[in-house]
Amino acid sequence: MKQSFKTSKLYYGFPIFILGYQDQNFGHNITTCSSSYSLGDWLVIGVGAEENAADQIKHYQQFTVNIPGEHFMLEMEQAGFISHREKLEHLGLDYEISERTQAPILKACLVVLDCQVDRIIEEDGICHIFAKILDRLADPELLDDKGHFKNDRFAPTYFMGDGNQRVYRYLDDRVDPMGSFIKKARKKMTRAELPERIETERLVLRVRTVADAEDIHAYASLPEVAYPAGFPPVKTLEDEIYYLEHILPERNQKDNLPAGYGIVVKGTDTIIGSVDFNHRHEDDVLEIGYTLHPDYWGRGYVPEAARALIDLAFKDLDLHKIELTCFGYNLQSQRVAEKLGFTLEARIRDRKDAQGNRCDSLIYGLLKSEWEVD
Ligand SMILES: Cc1cc2nc3c(=O)[nH]c(=O)nc-3n(C[C@H](O)[C@H](O)[C@H](O)COP(=O)(O)O)c2cc1C
Repeated sequence: MKQSFKTSKLYYGFPIFILGYQDQNFGHNITTCSSSYSLGDWLVIGVGAEENAADQIKHYQQFTVNIPGEHFMLEMEQAGFISHREKLEHLGLDYEISERTQAPILKACLVVLDCQVDRIIEEDGICHIFAKILDRLADPELLDDKGHFKNDRFAPTYFMGDGNQRVYRYLDDRVDPMGSFIKKARKKMTRAELPERIETERLVLRVRTVADAEDIHAYASLPEVAYPAGFPPVKTLEDEIYYLEHILPERNQKDNLPAGYGIVVKGTDTIIGSVDFNHRHEDDVLEIGYTLHPDYWGRGYVPEAARALIDLAFKDLDLHKIELTCFGYNLQSQRVAEKLGFTLEARIRDRKDAQGNRCDSLIYGLLKSEWEVD
């Protein structure tokens, strides 16, 4: 349960800004503030009725809101600690005068709002100034070629704390588009599910169970299968059972991956290989992987199985892209990638395989738009 906490004030994070205004005594002046609210063209700020800023804004009915970044902390504090004096010349600040409001626009502040007072409610020693935003100004470096705001380039400083201690809180440059968390949660809620069993011309692809442990161990224990696929040979049948019961389902759960398939030749019931997704790189980009018992190499089973999985995944899992990684020495895998229409996107040099041998790591990619969707 939450605890009611007694404090004289609680600033829960307000962007610091510097009011610019005309001054009857000094021509132009500035005062640091943080209490503000804005929606649409309205802006409300709270200014102590005793501050010079309140008197001057009451008189001229116009002001600018200059929003500084971290580089301006000293000047920001000076403008917030000195009162009823001339501050612009005193602090040696570069500014121009706004044509709309005749208030100062500080060069160092990358975002500035020109505001016109609509009404002032004065109560308990505070002037709540309701104003209309006449113009929004931004330094060109904050606008992209379409004139849209570059959110990750602008980092105001936040004022927060309680009656005990107040601090400046800085932003880093991470941004997430509005709506992205809901979108991700929705994606997570729809479990990535594929049918338990599908058929291709020569193969049956079906979900593996622990009953298949022996079949799978027969090839996953072979160095020529395991190392190129990126894992050390599975030593014992118990290890294989543990993999099928724990490691595989937990990985799939964590990354929201579909169960993947064991490869069975039609007319038999032995799993001779696998084709599945082993990594989620983005919410709509998965990495495909495959293995095959050497007794069945050279028959085109892997491309046949992978083609079926890719087709299903593009249609049913709403994927944008499928990636595939293999080592430079794994020519068979590269041939599979090429047969399936993947494009080689990167050669990462001098990686190590599961044996510690230096080799290149190749990354292939296939976009949904490149897949022959029927
Ligand atoms: C980080 C910071 C935030 C401030 N926020 C406000 C505010 O929201 N409202 C206010 O009236 N004063 C605020 N102040 C205090 C005024 O800036 C300060 O009292 C200033 O000296 C007043 O100057 P003036 O009398 O020349 O207008 C703040 C000061 C700092 C340093």
